[in-house]
Amino acid sequence: MQLARFPRLRFAHLPTPLEPLENLSKHLGVRTLIKRDDCTGLSTGGNKTRKLEFLAADALDKKADTLLTQGAVQSNHARQTAAIAARLGMRCEILLEDRTGNHAPDYMHSGNVFLDLLHGASIARFPAGTDMSQALDEAAANVRARGGRPYIIPGGGSTPIGALGYVNCALELVHQATAMGLAIDTVVTATGSGGTQGGLVAGLEILRSGIGVLGIGVRVPRQQQEDSVFALATKTADLLGHPGAVARSAVVANCDYVGQGYGLPTSGMVEAVEMLARLEGILIDPVYTGKGMAGLIDLARKGQFKDKTIVFLHTGGSAGLFGYTGAFDFGAAA
Ligand SMILES: Cc1ncc(COP(=O)(O)O)c(C=O)c1O
Repeated sequence: MQLARFPRLRFAHLPTPLEPLENLSKHLGVRTLIKRDDCTGLSTGGNKTRKLEFLAADALDKKADTLLTQGAVQSNHARQTAAIAARLGMRCEILLEDRTGNHAPDYMHSGNVFLDLLHGASIARFPAGTDMSQALDEAAANVRARGGRPYIIPGGGSTPIGALGYVNCALELVHQATAMGLAIDTVVTATGSGGTQGGLVAGLEILRSGIGVLGIGVRVPRQQQEDSVFALATKTADLLGHPGAVARSAVVANCDYVGQGYGLPTSGMVEAVEMLARLEGILIDPVYTGKGMAGLIDLARKGQFKDKTIVFLHTGGSAGLFGYTGAFDFGAAA
């Protein structure tokens, strides 16, 4: 696979560690490791750093001077896009959609929103249900009218170019597992806009790694999630010159842990965030990794991972905790 054919900027801290979660493994009775993509660098780290290495290189190739993107109010993707724009001396415009209906001050202004502004991005807010692709096109037209050169990064950076970042993660993981003498059965990851799972699946399938990927959905029902991840994985494999490398059966999502909707807390998420914080000293997030880990915990309790070796992909997002303090109740300890 010729990943080196694609323009890429090198700012991620790679390879990210692959570490055992010893206390969690004992607690759940399942051998569980963690791939620390929360340590990729770039404004508290996370999965978008890998995608942005390829997307920002494409933007520079196209002579852009302004990055435009969209997401939910507490979007991690927006925060990391703001950070790379700052690093590259580009302008950044972020369009935030009110997807959760949460108007608490910390949700509206703290966490990722605070960091977007700290990185010098401009923010525009939109009501739920806005056609955000159209809003991005209009914002790009405004940039052009002012004489700027916009580059649109769709929500989550989940294009085939962005997904190359997770093909790179697949390569890295296979090398690490080989060096450690580790036979991984399944990688568990939160899956939203799909570029993380799509890129991972494309990479692991092209490599014929024998490693499965289980996406834990955070927003839509299973069929819709799997279809969109499969479409993206297929396009990513095509881009890499491996058409047909991804079997439909390689794309598996479990969307039983979404709860009432995207970005809305669940008791499983709260339990998972607290469990990782208290057993491992690791921060996960309320919107993605918290629900992803809630799925892992529940499936482990149900025996789905018996005698398996599981890698949880920590895709970052802990900055979002500061937008969700109301979801946690520390009782008398507070
Ligand atoms: C912390 C975190 N984890 C996981 C995801 C999901 O990744 P993807 O959108 O590539 O499916 C996101 C997306 O924004 C995220 O911010």
